[in-house]
Amino acid sequence: MAEVLAALGGAPALGKVKPVQWPPRYRSTERELLRLYRQQYWSFNGPQEKLFCAKFAAFQGAKHCVFMMNGTVTLEAALYVLGIGRGDEVIVPAITWVATAAAVVYVGAKPVFVDVDPETLCMDPVQVEAAITPQTRAIIPVHLYGAMADLDALQGVATRRNLSIIEDCAHAHGGAWAGNGAGTLGRIGSFSFQESKPLACGEGGAVITDDEELASRLYRYKHIGYPPGPRPRLEPGQRYSPPGFVCRNYRATEFQAVILLGQMRTLRRNTARRAVAAEYLRAGLEEIPGVRVQSPGRRADPQAYYRLVVTFQPEELAGASQAAIIRALAAEGLPTGPLYGTVYRHPLWNVAPENWRMVPTGADKMGECCAIAEDLSTRSIGIPHQWLLQPPPVLDAIAGAFRKLYRNRDALRRLEE
Ligand SMILES: Cc1ncc(COP(=O)(O)O)c(C=O)c1O
Repeated sequence: MAEVLAALGGAPALGKVKPVQWPPRYRSTERELLRLYRQQYWSFNGPQEKLFCAKFAAFQGAKHCVFMMNGTVTLEAALYVLGIGRGDEVIVPAITWVATAAAVVYVGAKPVFVDVDPETLCMDPVQVEAAITPQTRAIIPVHLYGAMADLDALQGVATRRNLSIIEDCAHAHGGAWAGNGAGTLGRIGSFSFQESKPLACGEGGAVITDDEELASRLYRYKHIGYPPGPRPRLEPGQRYSPPGFVCRNYRATEFQAVILLGQMRTLRRNTARRAVAAEYLRAGLEEIPGVRVQSPGRRADPQAYYRLVVTFQPEELAGASQAAIIRALAAEGLPTGPLYGTVYRHPLWNVAPENWRMVPTGADKMGECCAIAEDLSTRSIGIPHQWLLQPPPVLDAIAGAFRKLYRNRDALRRLEE
C-alpha cells in the first residue's frame, strides 16, 4: 500500500506514543507543596529559596545565586548592577527571545544586534568585534536552545575591549563549556525557569556569579534595596544602598523554590539523557538529504538541550515551507515549532528605531543585516527537549517521521496554506 502523510490521511509515524509530561509532576514535590501551604512562610528568602540557591549555584559551579521572578528581570538586574544605562550599547545576538534585547532597553541602553554562527546559531564572535564602538559596555551571548556560544572567543574579545559578559542561560541549565558550568564564564549568568524550560516552576529566574559584591547588589536590586541577611542597624539619615541605586521588587516565592528543588534531583540525569538522545537523533536525521542539526558548542560538554533544532534545505524537500513541515510532523505525532526568528522582526518588538541598531547598519536595516540569522530562522524547526527523554524506539520513530516527509516531499506542497 502506498505510504501517505498523516496530514493527508495516512497512519502517523509515531503511532500512539505517549508524550513525556513537562514540567514533570513528582509526588514528593506535591507533598512538599502541601506542607508549605499549610505550615510555612511563603514569601522571599525562606528556607526553600536559600536551599535552592545553594544547590543551583553549586550545580552550575558558581559561588552565589539570587532567585527572582523570571528570566527577563534577571537580565535587567544583571545589566543594572554592572552600571549599564543611558548612552551605553550592549551587543546581543539577532536570534533570541525578545527579552534578551528588551532588558537592555529597560535599563536605558541600546541593544546592538549581530549575526549568528551558522553551525551553533549563537552570537558570532567575529560580528561582535565588528559591532564594538566606544559606547559598548557589555555582550550578552545566548546559549540558544542549549547550544553554547563560543565563550573562548567571546572572552578574548571582552578582555581585549574591556567589556562585561552576561551569559543568557535561559536554555542552558546543566550545560557546561570546557568543564565550566553555563553562566560561570561571564561576570553574571542569567537563567529562566519558565514553564517550558528544562528546569521549570511556572515563572522564575536566577542569576549566578562568583563576585560577592555583584551578588549583594543583585540581591538588593530584587529585594527593594534590602541587603541579604539580617538588616544592618542604620545611623539616622543612613540608607541601605548608595544614592541613585533604585531597586525593585523582583522576588519569587517559596512555592517556586520547592518545585525547582524537586526537579534539581533529576536535572543532571535528564541533561545527560537529552545529550545522548540528541546525538542519536543527529546521526539518524543527518542521513536525510538537506537535513542538518544545530551543532553543539565547540567545547560544550555536556550540551544542554531546550530544543533540538533541525534545519532543512527547502530544495531537497520540493520547496516545502517551515509551516508545512511543522504541520506534517504534528500530524505524524511530533509537535515542533518555528525558531524565535530575529528579534527586530518579532511582533512584540516595539522599540523605536533610534533606540537599537544592527551591524552593519544599512539603509534598509531589515534587508542588509544578520543574513545568517534571517535565513536559518525561516528554515529550521525545534523539537521540544522532553522528546529527548523518550526511549530509543521513540527516537527511531522521530527520525522515521522525518524520513517519511522526505520520501513524500512532493505531497508536502498540499500542506502549504
Ligand atoms: C533566551 C531567553 N532569554 C530570556 C528569556 C526570558 O525568560 P522569562 O520568560 O523567564 O522571563 C527567555 C524566555 O523564554 C529566553 O528564551
